[in-house]
Amino acid sequence: MESSAARIGVIGAGYVGLGTGICLAAMGHSVIVRDIDERRLAALADGELPIYEPGLVDLLADSRHRLQFTADLAEVLAGADLVFIAVDTPPTYSGDADLSRVTRFFAELAQLDTRDDHLLIMKSTVPVGTGDRLRAELDRQGLAHVGYVSNPEFLREGSAIHDFMNPDRVVIGGFRVEDGDRVQAIYAPLGSPIIRTTVPTAEMIKYASNAFLATKISFINEIANVCEEVGADVVTVADGMGHDQRIGRAFLNAGIGFGGSCFPKDVSALKQLAGNSGYHFQLLTSVIEVNELQKRRVIGKLKKHLGSLAGRTITLLGASFKPETDDIRDAASLVLASRLLAEGAHVRLYDPVALDAVRGLLSGVELLEDALAAIADADAVVLVTEWRQIVGLDWPAAIATMAPSRVVVDGRNVLDPQSIRAAGATFEAIGRA
Ligand code: UDX
Ligand code: UDX
Repeated sequence: MESSAARIGVIGAGYVGLGTGICLAAMGHSVIVRDIDERRLAALADGELPIYEPGLVDLLADSRHRLQFTADLAEVLAGADLVFIAVDTPPTYSGDADLSRVTRFFAELAQLDTRDDHLLIMKSTVPVGTGDRLRAELDRQGLAHVGYVSNPEFLREGSAIHDFMNPDRVVIGGFRVEDGDRVQAIYAPLGSPIIRTTVPTAEMIKYASNAFLATKISFINEIANVCEEVGADVVTVADGMGHDQRIGRAFLNAGIGFGGSCFPKDVSALKQLAGNSGYHFQLLTSVIEVNELQKRRVIGKLKKHLGSLAGRTITLLGASFKPETDDIRDAASLVLASRLLAEGAHVRLYDPVALDAVRGLLSGVELLEDALAAIADADAVVLVTEWRQIVGLDWPAAIATMAPSRVVVDGRNVLDPQSIRAAGATFEAIGRA
């Protein structure tokens, strides 16, 4: 994996910044990670990860001698030539991407000494056209010597190391060929296809990729809803579709909707971007609407068997937006818990790692560290996140501890309908006859 070691900086020690920084250190580069959150830096200095990401804490330990953590941007600029930017770009109320963290970084940079060999590499997801504006801003600030490349990240939370080290493709959008060459040299040892293009096109590849994956999910969720009406099984439908190379089986898992720090915000940001340019992106409007409705269909399934949910004890299994992460951003669990509270239900929430992230966010929800305790005496259980700790439960034994109503809703189609029914529960899934 070794290539000639580079001096790398990473701005933002979040899910993308830490995945990127620690993997690059593991590849042999010297990496200095900058974050404004002192508590996060202190934890990292002690070898602790502020996020849950399988395998990353071990990789951090193995590459510790090539990693530094600092809040001081000047230290990064002194010790690094290639600077990856991975600050968060959350959605604003209008759905546009909030670039305040990005512009703050550039304003700070303009106050500091920079060299000809400094190259800024944008990993954060930024609207198409941002790179052009930042390039103009750099030039206006007398920083024409500082290079800028768009290099969107496609890693998934929960499999960050695998995805970073085995990218399906590496996208490099640059203004100067030599800048793109320097970034390409970093990824060359990974042996993945490299797409060299313009900055706006690179930015659009990121948005279009996330929006297409989200569209695929909303499509299969609508198919699932029709399957329920016509008595078909969406899991087999997806298998049948997926054998067609043009379709592919990946991201055809019907469920209670997509969440996370990327799909919801990137789909709305792309829709907004199109709208700002005068184009009404109808498809994405539906993708978002279908996704919001999909989360709420669970309530209908519960009412079908329990009637009013007032006074009922409903247990949600899984807080994080997907397994193997403690990230709850735009998680279906938050919407479901709030809906159930509004219906007057007593809501319990279990998650193997993400409860700390929920604490203080959902007042009135009982948080439980033990899944079986969460299920005992419950009128209904909803599988929200397909953690292996949840899928692998002794379901017949757990169901035996539930209240007589015993309703199980499998929001991710990962349980075996027969064994759940055989255990005496009323079973509902998503699009399964
Ligand atoms: C990343 C990308 O940056 C975002 O564009 C993409 O859409 C999702 O993935 P993520 O890694 O999930 O975001 O962000 P987050 O986990 O919130 O981490 C951002 C880090 O940047 C935080 O640790 C925060 O403290 C730090 N930060 C933020 C700075 O160091 N400086 C700032 O000015 C703002
Ligand atoms: C996503 C993209 O996959 C990744 O390339 C990009 O860099 C960041 O955004 P991530 O948000 O970490 O990654 O998770 P992902 O595995 O894509 O899941 C996103 C959401 O879609 C989750 O809520 C998941 O439960 C849901 N999903 C995924 C489905 O409902 N069905 C599927 O078939 C796949």
